Amino acid sequence: MNLSTRYLGLNLQNPLVVSASPLTNKIENIRICEEQGVGAVVLRSLFEEQINDEIDAKLDQEDMYFWYPEAADHIKNISKEQVTQPYLKLIEKAKREVSIPIIASVNCFSAGDWVVFAKNIESAGADALELNVSTHLPYDEKMEEHHLEDTIAAIVANIKSQVNIPVVVKLHPYFSNIIATAKQLERSGANGLVLFNRFYRPDIDIERLEVISDNYLSTTKEMTHSLRWIGVLSRHVSCDLAASTGIHGYEEVVKQLLAGATVTQICSVLYIKGLKHISTILNDLETWMKTKEFTTIDDFKGLITDNRLNSANFEQIQFIEKNVRAL
Ligand SMILES: Cc1cc2nc3c(=O)[nH]c(=O)nc-3n(C[C@H](O)[C@H](O)[C@H](O)COP(=O)(O)O)c2cc1C
Repeated sequence: MNLSTRYLGLNLQNPLVVSASPLTNKIENIRICEEQGVGAVVLRSLFEEQINDEIDAKLDQEDMYFWYPEAADHIKNISKEQVTQPYLKLIEKAKREVSIPIIASVNCFSAGDWVVFAKNIESAGADALELNVSTHLPYDEKMEEHHLEDTIAAIVANIKSQVNIPVVVKLHPYFSNIIATAKQLERSGANGLVLFNRFYRPDIDIERLEVISDNYLSTTKEMTHSLRWIGVLSRHVSCDLAASTGIHGYEEVVKQLLAGATVTQICSVLYIKGLKHISTILNDLETWMKTKEFTTIDDFKGLITDNRLNSANFEQIQFIEKNVRAL
């Protein structure tokens, strides 16, 4: 049985990737992920905005920088270095201690000089860079059409001009035309796309009459949204596709691969069941492959969407009569 797969030009021993979260911010956890047999690990995102805020807060405490703005600029550059050092150290340590690919993650807000940091990530040894674009959301009514897509594409192009490692963009689902966005990002140099990031989901407590946000972790029912778009996009783009959200067991892994995903990412289930669940998923995946007589991942990757008849189902939106009749 051969579960190996290629993702972003990297050799992975299997298509299971631990996605970005504080879990991957600790070297001990990264080691356990490797022991459990995972294909690759994505580190927690480093947030550009958070770093800038930390630096601004420090500068605000010192009146001097108000009078000497050049000094503030100089300090800003040094501080950026200091704030990002622990992240670079984690990459270096992970690369020394484990042999699975380590994918760094940054949340870039602007296409400006911040992207130079991508170079440091590459020098620290990261095998690839995942761009988490979750701060680019369509909340501004004055935002011009295509502004979001153009900004993200500019960030990708800018970063690609600075580094040689592969760059993958982790998308949120709030784009008006996901196919066009995916193609634009591919043209800008993205080597892959992750579909989709999952955000806090506001809810309302009807007793206390206030907004609550306590469903931090996904359920498997949420998987069908990315499944649809993996199925659709796998026929439109040639870059790699990583499925994320709601993947808790081998069944979801299998479904995403059948729909055309290159790899599958897991996060919530590791909070729920612990890192040892990684080997359970992999063992179950092997058992399923044996029963279906598949010996490699390529034997069934994209099998469902390769069939035009099936692929139309991924684009279907309305419940059709024959399905509803059963209700
Ligand atoms: C506590 C927590 C922290 C997360 N932090 C990040 C992050 O730093 N960067 C990122 O791109 N995604 C982050 N995510 C999103 C996950 O990587 C993942 O895409 C999302 O949870 C959906 O996958 P899941 O259903 O397997 O949890 C985080 C998720 C959780 C639950």
